[in-house]
Amino acid sequence: MAKLKILKIGDETLRKVSRKVDVITPRINTLIDDMIETMRDADGCGLAAPQVGVLRRIVVVEVEEGKPIVLINPKIIAQAGVQEEIEGCLSVPGRNGKTRRPRHVTVRAMGRDGKEFEVSGSDLLARAFCHELDHLDGKLYIDEAIEMYD
Ligand code: NI
Repeated sequence: MAKLKILKIGDETLRKVSRKVDVITPRINTLIDDMIETMRDADGCGLAAPQVGVLRRIVVVEVEEGKPIVLINPKIIAQAGVQEEIEGCLSVPGRNGKTRRPRHVTVRAMGRDGKEFEVSGSDLLARAFCHELDHLDGKLYIDEAIEMYD
């Protein structure tokens, strides 16, 4: 595994729309392993492929230590409730902001085994899903933050 460089705000790649993954190649598998290592090393609870310069629809989320969730071509298929909490982003270092997100989210995605699955999350996990999926469409949480803190 290898630690990857995390792109920072101002890099154009973060603003691009990522492409779907059709086949999980060894290269994609290596990328996922490296993303997990990079997220953990940076003490983040989520990372999206465009943040490491790869415009593919892949995110990793780890809210519960030791249980990374890998989402390939993820889509939010259900959401409920509202939460306003503080979040940050590894690509926007040194800042935090308050955002409005759904409190409960269900995501449908492809797993590393190539099979479709659904995963639901509430609170921090729901927020992490929304935040990371936004990265796949070139969106950053600061775009719609209610308030920013430096
Ligand atoms: Ni982020």
